[in-house]
Amino acid sequence: MSEKPGGEQWTSRMGVIMAVAGSAVGIGNYLRFPGLAVEHGGGAFMLPYFVALLVLGIPLSWAEWTMGRYGGIRGFNSAPGIYSVIWRHPAAKYFGALALMIPLIVYMYYVLIEAWCLSYAIDYLTGDLMTGHGGRIDQVIAGMDVADDGAELSSATKVAAFSKYFDEFIGAGQDGSAIFGGRGVWLVILTSVFLLNFACIYRGLSHGIEKLCNIAIPVLFVLSFAVLFRVLTLGTPDPSKPDQNLMAGLAFMWEPNEEAIAELKNPKTWLDAAGQIFFTLGVGFGIIINYSSYLRRKDDIALSSLTATSINEFSEVCHGGLITIPAAFVFLGIGGLAATNLDSTFAVGFVALPNVFDAMWGGRLFGFMWYFMLFTAAIAASVSMLQPCIAFLEEGFGLKRRASAAILGGVSAFGCVFVLYFSKGSVALDTFDFWVGTFLMFMLALVQTILYGWVLGIERGHQELHQGANLNVPYFVQYVLKYVTPTYLITVLIAFIWLKLGSQLETVGKSVVAQLSLAIIAILLGGLMVMTWSAGRRWSREGRFKGLDAIGEQRLEPGETR
Ligand code: ALA
Repeated sequence: MSEKPGGEQWTSRMGVIMAVAGSAVGIGNYLRFPGLAVEHGGGAFMLPYFVALLVLGIPLSWAEWTMGRYGGIRGFNSAPGIYSVIWRHPAAKYFGALALMIPLIVYMYYVLIEAWCLSYAIDYLTGDLMTGHGGRIDQVIAGMDVADDGAELSSATKVAAFSKYFDEFIGAGQDGSAIFGGRGVWLVILTSVFLLNFACIYRGLSHGIEKLCNIAIPVLFVLSFAVLFRVLTLGTPDPSKPDQNLMAGLAFMWEPNEEAIAELKNPKTWLDAAGQIFFTLGVGFGIIINYSSYLRRKDDIALSSLTATSINEFSEVCHGGLITIPAAFVFLGIGGLAATNLDSTFAVGFVALPNVFDAMWGGRLFGFMWYFMLFTAAIAASVSMLQPCIAFLEEGFGLKRRASAAILGGVSAFGCVFVLYFSKGSVALDTFDFWVGTFLMFMLALVQTILYGWVLGIERGHQELHQGANLNVPYFVQYVLKYVTPTYLITVLIAFIWLKLGSQLETVGKSVVAQLSLAIIAILLGGLMVMTWSAGRRWSREGRFKGLDAIGEQRLEPGETR
């Protein structure tokens, strides 16, 4: 790729695909997806999941790539600027504030989960998470009321021990205990992970993010293939429990029974499937629009978008779907799985799986590989959550990287410490995840669909999408984007409000921490809107919106740059 003056850019086509795939493949693929699939009837869940992928995920991803590059070649990398270019109305930029806030808030709790993964990986290296090694899990068991008669520990005792270990580690029982609980090494790990994210961002798009993702994606695929291979060779590990074999584990995850098919009549199944598509692909997140703004006019986006989506879906369905739940079933059976509280995303990954590694041949190595793989996937995703705000601070206020990274570092560290401190019952994390990581994501997706289908227009959108395209996207996709996607989204939003809002508002009414979390969301959104107003004035003063139409009309030859 040749130079695109005046800003950062990706160095290769593969680089941008890896970066977008890196932002997509994450904890959502390996923990959130399998948990939701089982909750909603395994194989039956795949129907609403694939409908959401086809109607929302793939078309919206094309729309975001198109709008991002459209704004990028007109000189903007941040959502407020890009939306203003698409919709020449003073109000447009304020919707962009939403696209800055969503990734920033999600980062505040996502980086914490990322550090849990690294911490667990290290605990496997040291043996702390394997029973019988004299490490911390043995101390937890010793502190439990279990008779030490030399007999092997029952599976129920182990499930309870790993659950206690995790609860103590994240401070689920008491606010402040994740910080003041005496595990200094955990705070060192968290700080290092936090700083590592900023080191990547500081190094810039091509030297930081692109390089990281070029390494992270292959590494995580090698590791997840290794763990998958181990899981697929589990057979029947305990001959005294012939029903707990690999095939039964796969059937538990994937075979739709009558009860599962009935789940299809439950609107929550369709809602969760749509939410999972947003979370996993990163559409409606504010990330793709930023990443694609660094492309040049003639860079392909049609095939690149589909390739990044396919990489994510392969990892989610083929790896996430085949590893977590089947492995846990083989070792724990239905009863054991239920005891780990299957409904909780974290229980599957941080309680059920340590039981599996503990019982599995080579478990210490595979346990390390699994959590290190999760960490690798998570860091490639979390850096992408920082870049939209960095781009905004730099192009909105003329800041240098050092200043923008310092401001963003301060704000995100505050939020991260907030979530870390208010750990009791995960109220802060859940409140952020519900309002920002789910509700506002639906809202932003809706805003973007309307911007694309009704403001930019599908005719223009189709032309833009095909500039330099290596794939011909059929025109009917544009009709889907204009009519079907927004209708589906509005239906999902209504269902969301009807089914989930009431209980969440009740939680907020009762919990001061939830109220504080909402206050942080409101203050951040307000602050970003004020900053957007100020950046907008600067852009107008600088005449950044003048002559933009001409840019669309100019024809560039292949290889020519603007
Ligand atoms: N897309 C990222 C994930 O799935 C956020 O974890």
